Amino acid sequence: MDQKGEKFESVEDTGSPNVAPPTRGQRFKRHCGRRWWIYLIIFLILVLVGVIAIIFGIIPRIAQNSVSSSSLQVDGIAITSPSNSEFTLAMNSTVNSHAPVSASFSPQTFEMYLPPAEGKEPVPFINLSIGSLKVEDTFTINVTDAKTAIMNEDAYMDFSAQVLGREELELGVRSRPQINVGAIKFNVNYQKIVKLRGLNGLKGIKLYNATILDTPLPDGTNMITDGILPNPSSFTLQVGDLTVDMAFGTWELGWSVVKDLTLYPGDNAVKIYNHVKPEIIKNLLFVSSTTAPRTNITLTANSTVFNGQHINWLEKPLHDAPPVIAVLNP
Ligand SMILES: *[C@@H]1O[C@H](CO)[C@@H](O)[C@H](O)[C@H]1NC(C)=O
Ligand SMILES: *[C@@H]1O[C@H](CO)[C@@H](O)[C@H](O)[C@H]1NC(C)=O
Ligand SMILES: *[C@@H]1O[C@H](CO)[C@@H](O)[C@H](O)[C@H]1NC(C)=O
Ligand SMILES: *[C@@H]1O[C@H](CO)[C@@H](O)[C@H](O)[C@H]1NC(C)=O
Ligand SMILES: *[C@@H]1O[C@H](CO)[C@@H](O)[C@H](O)[C@H]1NC(C)=O
Ligand SMILES: *[C@@H]1O[C@H](CO)[C@@H](O)[C@H](O)[C@H]1NC(C)=O
Repeated sequence: MDQKGEKFESVEDTGSPNVAPPTRGQRFKRHCGRRWWIYLIIFLILVLVGVIAIIFGIIPRIAQNSVSSSSLQVDGIAITSPSNSEFTLAMNSTVNSHAPVSASFSPQTFEMYLPPAEGKEPVPFINLSIGSLKVEDTFTINVTDAKTAIMNEDAYMDFSAQVLGREELELGVRSRPQINVGAIKFNVNYQKIVKLRGLNGLKGIKLYNATILDTPLPDGTNMITDGILPNPSSFTLQVGDLTVDMAFGTWELGWSVVKDLTLYPGDNAVKIYNHVKPEIIKNLLFVSSTTAPRTNITLTANSTVFNGQHINWLEKPLHDAPPVIAVLNP
């Protein structure tokens, strides 16, 4: 009985016609009370629109801006196991960015190209797969042992010629990575032009310790020299057997081989196997010049062979480059 009474009372409270007419405020309150769910839905929709605007408008814009304003520095590139269709690539690089939120990149592909002339489309010559990355103020993108196909031979030849011949060059890198901010995923455009130091035509080669062999080696080598090949760049380049023609001015002396050459950043000490023409190796002027100080020797690259194969993108630019003046006994 007690419970029934209570129920009755509460029903009477809300809807009895005997109660005095409600004031304006009370009517509004009642209206709100009945329609509260409409206001809740409107509120939720507004919140949702705001969140969607942030997710699909503001966060991507912020992310795109911070991706665009980030910097990419290439600390080292190693190009090894060269062939005419592919090579092995390793790269160390550092990214500086100001990420306002914690984010990560899904695995992406870097397309690399030489910055094209005004109004021309870039021609990517290699694709490089990059694993997933956690975005931090400073983070590294290191790639090792990437089998890399040459996608465009002419474009890659141009790049290689710049790497070998220039003091400085520019490399374009672009991708369209997916960025993940929590559970939110979207794509951004990534495009950077990176400045790199080149090998500067191997300028400054020094030769030492010219030793004439009384008995030539089976391969015909009749003089051995020590060489220092400077590489001012951060490229490591596996060249293979490098053959050069040598001359004193216009006097052609013969040719030389550096076997199994890999140029590392910095000075590279190598053995040089010289095939001096038989009539010259006995020439007194030549013999005395091998011990004289500061003799200029003109070197013209003739061929590069790795794994029994002429590597066109190394051989042609080296061959077409101006001769290198090496100094014997500097
Ligand atoms: C990258 O850095 C590592 C560690 O310092 C080093 O061993 C490696 O030779 C570098 N690779 C290149 C391509 O510079
Ligand atoms: C990545 O490369 C940087 C040089 O850019 C080097 O200092 C670092 O040790 C490398 N990290 C790994 C894991 O090889
Ligand atoms: C290189 O990567 C780009 C971007 O991912 C892709 O569109 C293109 O097909 C790739 N090219 C090759 C030859 O794999
Ligand atoms: C020249 O030969 C000497 C004696 O064998 C050696 O110590 C020196 O390192 C050689 N020079 C070069 C540049 O290799
Ligand atoms: C050797 O070559 C340098 C430039 O590479 C030149 O300045 C110098 O005069 C040349 N020396 C001789 C003896 O020709
Ligand atoms: C240099 O190249 C020419 C062809 O351009 C070739 O006939 C000659 O044998 C080459 N010399 C050497 C030592 O490879």
